[in-house]
Amino acid sequence: MIMTASSSGGAVLRPLTSLFEALVTPHAVDRYLELLDPMATVREVRARIVRVMRPTEGSVVLELRPSRRWRGAEAGQFVQVGVVIDGVRHTRCYSPTGARPASRDAVELIVRAHPGGLVSQYLVREARAGMVVDLSSAAGEFVLPEPRPREVVLVSGGSGITPVLAMVRTLVREEFPGRIAFLHYTRTLADVPVLGELSALGEARDNLAVRIVETSTEGRLCREHLRGVAPWLGADSEVFVCGPDALTDALRELLDADGFGEQMHTECFRLVPPVPAGPADGAVSFARSGVVAANTGATLLEQAEAAGLQPEYGCRMGICFSCTAVKRSGRTRNVRTGDTHDDPDQPIQLCISAPVGDVEIDV
Ligand SMILES: Cc1cc2nc3c(=O)[nH]c(=O)nc-3n(C[C@H](O)[C@H](O)[C@H](O)COP(=O)(O)OP(=O)(O)OC[C@H]3O[C@@H](n4cnc5c(N)ncnc54)[C@H](O)[C@@H]3O)c2cc1C
Ligand code: FES
Repeated sequence: MIMTASSSGGAVLRPLTSLFEALVTPHAVDRYLELLDPMATVREVRARIVRVMRPTEGSVVLELRPSRRWRGAEAGQFVQVGVVIDGVRHTRCYSPTGARPASRDAVELIVRAHPGGLVSQYLVREARAGMVVDLSSAAGEFVLPEPRPREVVLVSGGSGITPVLAMVRTLVREEFPGRIAFLHYTRTLADVPVLGELSALGEARDNLAVRIVETSTEGRLCREHLRGVAPWLGADSEVFVCGPDALTDALRELLDADGFGEQMHTECFRLVPPVPAGPADGAVSFARSGVVAANTGATLLEQAEAAGLQPEYGCRMGICFSCTAVKRSGRTRNVRTGDTHDDPDQPIQLCISAPVGDVEIDV
């Protein structure tokens, strides 16, 4: 039944699945199927880790084989990966690093251990072939445009290498005829998980220039680095950058000064600086937990954590919706846009919502 539901007979069996699911409510049918085989779910997508490499200290390369319903990813997009640690499911965003169009059967992720980080440390330490994780569909606007630009400049820093690595691999696979520059910033060369591959690509292709900059000895992004790898950067170039805010800001300044700021595309792994708020007042009531705390003006996720609660979260930047909870009453402010919301009994994202005065939230 499980195999047939995802094959051509699936159209016939889907109503039966729904019926079965209704009969066993409140437990979704996936909860039962996963007891037999964690990959056999019909609604949720799962992926089995089939290969694990640890190319550098503090990072892991995972090759995943998703279940059939997974629809693939464009180079530069991200997926959400869910793992169970000590009985609790945690979800985080990761950018697949493989070239597109690639087989839907394989997803490569490179995870860098975040200092004190729960999921990244767990994966770097514990991931092994055979483990099954949750996998979301791919999302995100940070992708190579269609049709392709005439020239492409890729800039990354630290773990921000992952989406631009997918882009350079894609362009190489496509035999992209235009000029490509790849500029990556790392504290030391020993931290770069794909150093050999990038160096070899740079040497093998006339149209691809690769420069890996060690910040510990060569400093941060400057005009010389950028022009050294892409002396031709101009009106025909599109520039893609992923990395720390300081890198993105420095690149924007350089491109703006040259009149190419509009051609820059960014991906950020962290929340953009929040819109400043006025002084905080009132109290936050975490209704389900019975906890009340003075409003500090921080996001509801941070205030919940400061109060000793552990609401679920994924990206902490408003893109994955893992932290959604119902606001029962009060006014909240979206820290990314500054917009305020007064309506009661509305779902809100805790990680980008700050209370304005008294707020009651179902956490
Ligand atoms: C679009 C996108 C793509 C990404 N792609 C990649 C990728 O390809 N590779 C990669 O390695 N990473 C990637 N990341 C980052 C990744 O999603 C995780 O954020 C990272 O792995 C850290 O997760 P963690 O569970 O280890 O850390 P967490 O345990 O979530 O901690 C991370 C930080 O969150 C804060 N925090 C956590 N708990 C608390 C608390 N109780 N109180 C206050 N602050 C707290 C702290 O600042 C902490 O340092 C991506 C992120 C995004 C948004
Ligand atoms: S944690 Fe991802 S939207 Fe809030």
